[in-house]
Amino acid sequence: MMYDYIVLIGILSTCFSFTNSASIPTQPYKITNVVTRSWDEAIALAKGFATQMTLEEKCNMTAGVGGHCAGFVSPVPHLNFGGLCFQDSPSGVGDGVQFSTAFVAGIHIAATWDRDLFYQRAAAIGQEFRGKGVHFALGPMMNIDRNALHGRNWEGFGADPYLSGENSYYYVKGLQDQGVVATAKHYICNEQESNRTYHPKTGPSQGYSANLDDKTMHEIYLWPFAASVAAGAGSVMCSYNQVNGTQACQNNKILNELLKDELQFQGNVMSDWGATKVGVESALGGLDIEMPGRDGLMGYALLPAVKNGSITEARINDMIIRILAPYFLLGQDQDYPSLNLNNDATRDHYLLNRHIGTAGIILLKNIDNTLPFNMNTEKFYSIYGSAASRYNDGVDPHGLDGLDGALYQGGGSGYVRPTYFIDPLTALLTKARDFHLQIQYVVDQDDYVAINYSLENSGFLGGKCLVFINAWSSEGRDRHNLFAYHNGDKLVNTIAARCASTIVIVNSVSQLNLEAWIENSNVTAVVWSGLPGPEYGSAIVDILFGNYNPGGKLVFTIAKNDSDYGTNITETYNSNYTEGVFLDYRHFDKNNIIPRYYFGYGLSYTTFSFSALMISKVGQENHISQSLYRQRRVSSYSNKALLRFYESVYSITFTITNIGNVDGSEVPQLYLSFPEEAAEPPKILRGFERVYLEAGESKTVTLVLTERDISYWNTVNQKWIIASGKYTVWIATSANNADIKLEDDSLYTYFIDNQRTINHQLVIFGLRELNSTETKYICSNQPITDPPIIDKRFDFTSNYKILIYTSGCYYLDANNHWQSNGLVVGPLTNHYQTQCYSNQLK
Ligand code: NOJ
Repeated sequence: MMYDYIVLIGILSTCFSFTNSASIPTQPYKITNVVTRSWDEAIALAKGFATQMTLEEKCNMTAGVGGHCAGFVSPVPHLNFGGLCFQDSPSGVGDGVQFSTAFVAGIHIAATWDRDLFYQRAAAIGQEFRGKGVHFALGPMMNIDRNALHGRNWEGFGADPYLSGENSYYYVKGLQDQGVVATAKHYICNEQESNRTYHPKTGPSQGYSANLDDKTMHEIYLWPFAASVAAGAGSVMCSYNQVNGTQACQNNKILNELLKDELQFQGNVMSDWGATKVGVESALGGLDIEMPGRDGLMGYALLPAVKNGSITEARINDMIIRILAPYFLLGQDQDYPSLNLNNDATRDHYLLNRHIGTAGIILLKNIDNTLPFNMNTEKFYSIYGSAASRYNDGVDPHGLDGLDGALYQGGGSGYVRPTYFIDPLTALLTKARDFHLQIQYVVDQDDYVAINYSLENSGFLGGKCLVFINAWSSEGRDRHNLFAYHNGDKLVNTIAARCASTIVIVNSVSQLNLEAWIENSNVTAVVWSGLPGPEYGSAIVDILFGNYNPGGKLVFTIAKNDSDYGTNITETYNSNYTEGVFLDYRHFDKNNIIPRYYFGYGLSYTTFSFSALMISKVGQENHISQSLYRQRRVSSYSNKALLRFYESVYSITFTITNIGNVDGSEVPQLYLSFPEEAAEPPKILRGFERVYLEAGESKTVTLVLTERDISYWNTVNQKWIIASGKYTVWIATSANNADIKLEDDSLYTYFIDNQRTINHQLVIFGLRELNSTETKYICSNQPITDPPIIDKRFDFTSNYKILIYTSGCYYLDANNHWQSNGLVVGPLTNHYQTQCYSNQLK
């Protein structure tokens, strides 16, 4: 289990930052302690199980069979195996079932930038799947927000692979800690809905082809899947589309080579529903289960293929072991609740949902402290927009009726039917009752007679005008444009033309074009409410009235012009990812395009200061080994050989202080620039932490960089490589260069193997063995073209840890101070040193 209970209580107690005494009722979230096994044990059990199955039974298991669940793997009665139930969705138990919690959407939890909340949401979702006896949850969904119009952006975690990867990692951990198998989807490059199952040239039901290069694949799209595998994900769902001209579910390159060999994934690959196009070729290409199985391409259909030698029984065995290993891994063979989708599994999860619903709301604009409202002096509130109120909740089990009205989620298989929904209007009316406020509202936003009349109403002149707008989207359909639904812009402009304090609340699935009114000086505040789940009303009221200090941050850039994004949905069956790794803020940075709001942006009711940035190489220091980050990262990686890649190599510490008058949180974001050889964008997100601080409080924050974080995918060597040269670390509050608070460019990596030394003409002035106090230094103004032999203890032919001093000709004096040309250049800090392995990259 990832956390112990005490740690959780500690985390939760710091998670609330209220600006007055009112509080969101909640209690520490309880984690079920599920007995789990190691992958090796699970695989051994699955192997033993498979040996007792007939070839017919084994083939049968490679395709779904009918049942109550979205997908079902057939039972094997003589082995007491009752089958496996697969059910949507990433945001709760879906497919129209009742008595589930409709959790905040993926895009919304990502906006909290809080790993503890990522984990807690996933654990609560896991409890509900388990409570209904479902074995495999069809989530998390981690496709990147490459196209602002993509209909499923709301299910995923935004536009950045690192942020998406962190979300994916904690989702898998949280869910699987409850004994439920996570299914990382949709593998891979399913970044649009248009033409996802239709391609006139290659076949009636084949999807568009996402065409991309190797570097982009590794650094952007594969990254979150790698994080899921590192967390131990039991399953991966291959997608409808093609990848570089081959259908994803029969694509040897992406399934066998990238996923199973390179990432060492030991679970199963299931097809998205109907995404299997052929039988034997798919099984050979790496697909383990055809879902839902109605097409009859695998399952029994593989039997003749085994008999005629087109596929080996060994591969069938491998498929069965992969299907069953996660079941044994998570102890589903022992006391797992029996399947009953009608069970009420909701517990007290509304408390957590309210908390995360609030924590993911983002404050974008707040002129002259319009927000939070002061209920003692600000008594009149006019509310506008159909998005303030509810619309046919729960009538359509796929949420497709949600085109209008306040939104808690988007539509499609990702949608979860809520047991209730508190919309903003209801919550505001309750607030008015309890605190003696005067409210008027018009939610029919076509009724301009009523709207105009309300703007003349006595008492309300000079009051606050709250305009609710939205944008909905769904699986199966991309948005047609990036404007607010239902003439939302006209509504805002009409109100703002006459109301000097207009507050716009944007309830959107992903990016929206705000340009029609954002610079209007009467629009004094803008709140991005996202997709906050059924506690939307409670959450937005807590933000507006200051019961909770907003701390969410954008998980995508909001452009001024739609064409500024540089990517688009293709109507041509070929989706060319020609932007490469230059996506979202990386693209804006590279091309010097100023967006409306930067990735990572979000305001607070308080302000923060930053100081004392320090970078150090991670050794055995206690502060790192005891850090929460490290505890979280007790990895369940299925292959221990890859573990080192996820270990911290640098720690970055700094101090953050809440210098305002109210409690609040900030999300310091670590952006990294790479040496030139890596050919990376100007800066890349490689760390963050949401830090909660009382007014006046300071905290030391430690972020870590793993070897993976500082590596780039080298397409020639086909491996991750730490670039040689200077890295710059920025601590910022958004991807806007103007929001950079701290900078350190002392992180150098040099490699002492022959090739690199010659190529880079490295001048080495001093060398010291790691953890030694004795420096052996040399001075040279000449490039050293061969590994220097300074002391025979330095053996450059083995992997030897050393420190290299590169900032001049320095030596240590008796007081541990660096001296240079007779000048004291500072105390011994890591500023002047860097560590590496002598034969790294050989
Ligand atoms: C298709 C969707 O793409 C996928 O996300 C979902 O899990 C399956 N249908 C099952 O409903």
